[in-house]
Amino acid sequence: MSLRIATIGRNGQTARAIAATTAGNGEITLTQANSQQADLRDAASLARYIDAAKPDVLINTGAYNFVDRAESEPDEAMRINADGPLALARICATLSLPFIHMSTDCVFDGNSPDPYTERDSPNPLSAYGRSKLAGEHAVASANPAAITARVCWVYSEFADNFVSKIVGFARTRDQLQVVDDQVGPPTYAPDIARALIALARAMHSGESNLPPLLHVAAPWTTDRASMARDILQESKRQGGPFADVQPVATATFNAPAPRPLNARLSGALATQRLGLTWTPWSEGLARSVAGVLSR
Ligand SMILES: NC(=O)c1ccc[n+]([C@@H]2O[C@H](COP(=O)([O-])OP(=O)(O)OC[C@H]3O[C@@H](n4cnc5c(N)ncnc54)[C@H](OP(=O)(O)O)[C@@H]3O)[C@@H](O)[C@H]2O)c1
Repeated sequence: MSLRIATIGRNGQTARAIAATTAGNGEITLTQANSQQADLRDAASLARYIDAAKPDVLINTGAYNFVDRAESEPDEAMRINADGPLALARICATLSLPFIHMSTDCVFDGNSPDPYTERDSPNPLSAYGRSKLAGEHAVASANPAAITARVCWVYSEFADNFVSKIVGFARTRDQLQVVDDQVGPPTYAPDIARALIALARAMHSGESNLPPLLHVAAPWTTDRASMARDILQESKRQGGPFADVQPVATATFNAPAPRPLNARLSGALATQRLGLTWTPWSEGLARSVAGVLSR
């Protein structure tokens, strides 16, 4: 069945993974808007974009993702992460247009010893997390048919992410300090793209009983320091920069925004409901590092 998907956001990691995943797929027509073409701070620009694109499903990949800066710009974070999604949810409800929104593990405080499921209660620690949770609530109340996909620790060869940051640091330093008390599931952006497309298909075909909230996360866990070591070993293997990793505690960094130490989202429900498969970490890592080194 042919499917017209439109995304809010064009140059971000998920938006680019959606473009790469759908390229050459004759059944999917993709339209993407950058933040100038459809600005989450400007409801009229969102309405104009949706009217022109006439999609079957809208996916909001756009967000204010500056976790530390949000502490000093909480209003801007709210405008982009809550007011913008609310405007999208309202437009989509009026048009009966299936709408997929995206959110984050940062809605949780990370105090649980277990992976977070969709049934767990949020308790954000940061201004960023509060803005994303406000966005979730706004979307759900304005458009009960909308679905929010929470993701975490996204990595890929696209845009800026933990892989590109670690490789970038290793270009100028021999030793990197990386926290080893934050754990989460590194999730390959193209896997998230495939999950969002599967969800879009299900919504477009009128599948019933789709959960309003889904955690889209890979079924493995690591800590940031181990992840950095794997990235640097892979970089070295591919002829790129290398550095030693010195593990440190999150508390030693004094970052403006607190992070949940447990960022593990359980992707079990989405995996089962959408029939998802996951790119092994070693494979996604090799592709991501190759992409970063070729820039
Ligand atoms: N990356 C992660 O590890 C991670 C973790 C948890 C949750 N998430 C969530 O996943 C979703 C996708 O994130 P991502 O990592 O793909 O994003 P990203 O790489 O940080 O890129 C941000 C995207 O947001 C768009 N954007 C920024 N300000 C905007 C505005 N005012 N109006 C419209 N669009 C705007 C950008 O537009 P342009 O196309 O113009 O650049 C870009 O496409 C977000 O909801 C994010 O909160 C990501």
